[in-house]
Amino acid sequence: MASITAAKEQEVREITRIERIGAHSHIRGLGLDDGLEPRKVSQGMVGQLKARRAAGVVLAMVKDGKIAGRAVLLAGQPGTGKTAIAMGLAQALGADTPFTSMAGSEIYSLEMSKTEALTQAIRKSIGVRIKEETEIIEGEVVEIQVERPASGSGGKTGKLTLKSTEMETMYDLGSKMIESLTKEKIQTGDVITIDKATGKISRLGRSFTRARDYDATGPQTRFVQCPEGELQKRKEVVHTVTLHEVDVINSRTHGFLALFSGDTGEIKSEVREQINAKVGEWREEGKADIIPGVLFIDEVHMLDIECFSFLNRALEDEMAPIVIMATNRGITRIRGTNISSPHGIPLDLLDRMVIIPTSPYEEPELKEILKIRCEEEDCEMSEDALLVLTKIAVETSLRYAIQLITTASLVSRKRKRTEVGIDDVKKVYSLFLDEGRSTQFLKEYQDEYLYDQSAGGDAAEAMEVTVQ
Ligand SMILES: Nc1ncnc2c1ncn2[C@@H]1O[C@H](COP(=O)(O)OP(=O)(O)OP(=O)(O)O)[C@@H](O)[C@H]1O
Ligand SMILES: [Mg+2]
Repeated sequence: MASITAAKEQEVREITRIERIGAHSHIRGLGLDDGLEPRKVSQGMVGQLKARRAAGVVLAMVKDGKIAGRAVLLAGQPGTGKTAIAMGLAQALGADTPFTSMAGSEIYSLEMSKTEALTQAIRKSIGVRIKEETEIIEGEVVEIQVERPASGSGGKTGKLTLKSTEMETMYDLGSKMIESLTKEKIQTGDVITIDKATGKISRLGRSFTRARDYDATGPQTRFVQCPEGELQKRKEVVHTVTLHEVDVINSRTHGFLALFSGDTGEIKSEVREQINAKVGEWREEGKADIIPGVLFIDEVHMLDIECFSFLNRALEDEMAPIVIMATNRGITRIRGTNISSPHGIPLDLLDRMVIIPTSPYEEPELKEILKIRCEEEDCEMSEDALLVLTKIAVETSLRYAIQLITTASLVSRKRKRTEVGIDDVKKVYSLFLDEGRSTQFLKEYQDEYLYDQSAGGDAAEAMEVTVQ
């Protein structure tokens, strides 16, 4: 009993973890119509119409799958929805197109070199669709006969009769097959497939001819036609894996278990070369297709000059994904050099990119985003409290206002109210400072803090030197 409760508890906890509310969990797509025109408010997306339209064009380009090695830069002020648009694009692509998301600073790990980290990210973003032909038996179950051995010796044996619209055949069953038939609760009148290579049995549904046997069917029963033609068929099965997964599985030092731990370390370049050659062969034989996916590098100004020049080359490779980057920096120093450049990105890489700008939101858009966030956080807010919160977003920042939703909702719950009112918002506004007020506060009381550097004195100059 105890163990069951424990298991249940764990289950519940896991589900709550999955449903946790993240900064972008309200985003469910790019909110475009069939003609790729952005709807004003859709799929959690609000405004920023031009950038979303442009992202829609990128989406079409990726879905087309033919163009690889393009780079797109989302550039704009903080909090203008760059990361949100990239997340929306990932949702719109669906599960079959690889999408890898990383922050520029992630490459500075001690376990692998910067270029290895980038190579892995690139290869995680390229899918290989492998086609396999398997032989299956597909038919409607006419009869299952199971014979129990008289004296416990040997396993069960039996016979299975299957029919299609044109033929009926009897198959001998071993004990393993009988076991899986019982496990899948297969009965007369079910339409099933049996994979000849693995012996795996799956039920497709119940035959229409049995639609009137009420007692054997539940409300969710799916009815299917009795299969036509031969009972034995060839079927094409398609798997999609990423190049990185193929690398890891074939890397002798790691093995496929590393895929679960994520601890893959560096992969030898010979392994990758062999895999590229093999995948090339499969493509020529028509056994596999390459699907270029998307690599999203957020905070791209955190990359340094070596990474940028590596990307320059990697983008020209035949098997390259579409790389989307985002930055909120203006003209700034390229990391690893003393040279300044727009967005902290070298000019030769900028030249290979198309740039999508994002612009600050107007008041109505801010209000709409805050409203969506309230719904996402299950927070009831009165109309005038929302107005005040919108004003706060205009004066300070969208992110700060979003943070206040959670805190205001907690405060109102403490006061045993069901709806967040103006006074709750006012309360948390006075409890938590935004960036502007915090700076103001520091300026006023700077002499009371440690290591004051505001006056541009010696300490500040020393700091400058070390940063350089
Ligand atoms: N157009 C939008 N529709 C809905 N939600 C949005 C929109 N734009 C931004 N948001 C939400 O506002 C918050 C801030 O936006 P986001 O993190 O995308 O900004 P950013 O441009 O990536 O900023 P930074 O440069 O600081 O990384 C997020 O919670 C995001 O989901
Ligand atoms: Mg961002």
